[in-house]
Amino acid sequence: MSQALDEIKIGGLGASRKRVEDNRFIRGKGNYTDDITLPGMLHMEILRSPLAHARIKSIDASKAWDIPGVRLVLTGEMMATRNLAWMPTLSYDTQAVLATDKVRFQGQEVACVIADDPYIAKDACEAIDVDYEPLPVVVNPTQAVADGAPVIRDDKTGQAGNVIYDWEVGDAEGTERAFADADVISRLQLHYPRSHPSPIECCGSVADFDRATSKLTVYMTTQAPHIIRAAVAMVAELPEHMIRIISPDIGGGFGNKVPVYPGYVCSILASILLERPVKWIEDKSGNLISTHFARDVYLDGEMALRRDGKILAVRMRTQADHGAFFADAQPSKFKIGLMHSAFAAYDIPVAHMTTRGTYTNKAPGGVAYRCSFRVTEAMFFQERMMQAAAQDLGLDQAAFRRMNFVRDDDFPHRTPFGFLTDSGQYGKCLDVGLRAIGYEDFRQKQEEARARGRLLGLGISTMTEPLGAGNSREYDILGIKMFDSAELKVHMTGKAIVRTGARGQGQGHETTWAQIVSHELGIPAEDIVVEEGDTDTAPFGMGTYASRSTPVAGAAVSMVSRKIRAKARKLAAHLLEVSEEDIEWELGRFYVRSAPDHGVTIQECAMAAYSNMPDGMEPGLENTAYYDPPNLTWPFAVYIVTVEVDPETGVWDVLNTVAVDDCGVRINPMIVEGQIMGGLAEAYAMANMQFITFDAEGNCVGSNYMDYMLPSAWETPGFELHSEVVTPCPHHPIGAKGIGECAAVGGPAAFVNAVLDALSQTGVRNIDMPLLPDRVWEAITQRHDVSGAPPVRTD
Ligand code: CDP
Repeated sequence: MSQALDEIKIGGLGASRKRVEDNRFIRGKGNYTDDITLPGMLHMEILRSPLAHARIKSIDASKAWDIPGVRLVLTGEMMATRNLAWMPTLSYDTQAVLATDKVRFQGQEVACVIADDPYIAKDACEAIDVDYEPLPVVVNPTQAVADGAPVIRDDKTGQAGNVIYDWEVGDAEGTERAFADADVISRLQLHYPRSHPSPIECCGSVADFDRATSKLTVYMTTQAPHIIRAAVAMVAELPEHMIRIISPDIGGGFGNKVPVYPGYVCSILASILLERPVKWIEDKSGNLISTHFARDVYLDGEMALRRDGKILAVRMRTQADHGAFFADAQPSKFKIGLMHSAFAAYDIPVAHMTTRGTYTNKAPGGVAYRCSFRVTEAMFFQERMMQAAAQDLGLDQAAFRRMNFVRDDDFPHRTPFGFLTDSGQYGKCLDVGLRAIGYEDFRQKQEEARARGRLLGLGISTMTEPLGAGNSREYDILGIKMFDSAELKVHMTGKAIVRTGARGQGQGHETTWAQIVSHELGIPAEDIVVEEGDTDTAPFGMGTYASRSTPVAGAAVSMVSRKIRAKARKLAAHLLEVSEEDIEWELGRFYVRSAPDHGVTIQECAMAAYSNMPDGMEPGLENTAYYDPPNLTWPFAVYIVTVEVDPETGVWDVLNTVAVDDCGVRINPMIVEGQIMGGLAEAYAMANMQFITFDAEGNCVGSNYMDYMLPSAWETPGFELHSEVVTPCPHHPIGAKGIGECAAVGGPAAFVNAVLDALSQTGVRNIDMPLLPDRVWEAITQRHDVSGAPPVRTD
């Protein structure tokens, strides 16, 4: 007689369990960095540069020092005396903490004031006199490498121009040969504009140095607390065991909270110098203009095609605008992140990509905003190129993609840039999407509408994203290998606590990690608490970004649960007085194979671990697992969007959006849907309205939320989600693949493709995002492509 538990009822795998963290969030009881108040706490504000490029002739802070309540003014000169004016970045570069010689972007940190309250600190910042000598400004990669361009990073010995790196991947000669054999060569050139992750909560820290214990505790908005601990140990030369980084609740990260920011460093130094807690909370404009941006990549390339539609080869060239400091986190080997995951879903024999990174007078760029290290740009180019190629061949969009997909029985598949993908049902996802959108009907409607002067369009985008960096053989950040960890303690009453090296920022880890333990051990999810973000208690981990949590930390949760189960099995054998080999497991219970009614629950085993263990067994029921994934996970998705474009105004409305996501086994289907909805909202915003750029003087245009639109429910169209395709990841312990970013990665191309499909009769090949009405109108009326690249000075 089986007594197995109903997994869904106990909140295991597949249960749409309500998010437990929402209990505190919806009551306003979240505990964010700004909620931390410590006795004797001071407040820090940052003075930022108004200019994008200027030499600092002098800084006079005397008036600021004179303001009552001011405790400390930090300048670059003072930082330099402590060897802290510059800090290492996560990309083997250096970044100014407070500017000494020059300012290199608008919004750069120039000085800090620490005072009794934030208002005094802000006023004192305004009392600091900085004498700047303006310098010529560089706002894009072409300008960066032009003759006579000013050298932005003249602080670096041996840095002659503004090139950071030249990197290539793939087979140049093989690609050349394939192009020589092509019937048709299709070309595309585009700019993926700069965008900002814009978390609702800005960055901040509360640093608390205790002279008596020599311990530094920092509460801060970081997605990767252990990496920060290592960085603080290196930069501030403090012993690692005396540093405790606590990442409390985080109001969204999206990659913005991975880097080390000057504000963190200054608040730490101030706390050490003043021996009092120092709080720094960034304001919205500060966050929007000075913390890391994403994208800003110029992509162009060609596709070699056979007349029947077979893709023979792809060539890509990319120029990335990194701003003044090359500071994004990325796997060290790959200068432009995982951009070369482009075209992984298509069976393409050969490809080649060159890439150049340049410095410009902008805030650091290249952060992985809801994306696995530049995959968003890769997928955008891929799907825009697929549409252009199908059009050039006169083939149907869907049929062209299907013909070139990697087939289900072709896995494992080596992509043209060398990744190994391991599973997927690409054709099936496309079929589900086409059926849901009513593909054939829509095409007919589109023709009829066109005859009446109405512009309807349909855009398809597919994406496959390499999620779960690393394995440690290939992936490291600054030499620290990428893996992750989980620790599980089962108390004697069978309740448990699980801690991981990841750090959620709204994704629901507190809910889903418990579900994994529940699946593995049969302990009801409500009996398990999840804790993340405290380096004194959580096992070492690389943090949460690039949707790596489920593929790596989630896998570690499974593996540590299995270690616990293995020990519990020994306890069960002892309790049941049989040998271990005679024991069977069903969810939540061990039983004797020959007498299924004779069994013990996992809770009884837990009690025995503390009260009745066999001779020689170490007491307790707890363990830790470090998980080094054998490969990345490769979720796949198809997004299909239909739009109507108004030819009179260029305004476009979304008629329907269909999303078919295959992220393997879904731990919590409701949370997965939330992740997809959020990603699609961001994709829509990127394609439609999010405009942040720079003028020729390097002024950030769109530096507030009046101009840079975050879509609310009002602007966001409805989305239809499909979950019927499930291809478990073959190497993940529970078959899950990442999902957090997929829709933000694959979505933008679907919206843009739809608008361009509506304009297919005009000969327009590209309009750069965002597809603002004036750009679309210009394309319709002028019948030419519309570029979104920022203007440069011509005088
Ligand atoms: O790294 P991050 O948490 O941002 O991304 P993720 O690993 O894709 O997970 C996002 C959320 O979706 C987490 O709460 C996961 O546990 C959940 N998820 C899921 O329920 N099933 C999957 N197959 C993948 C993620």
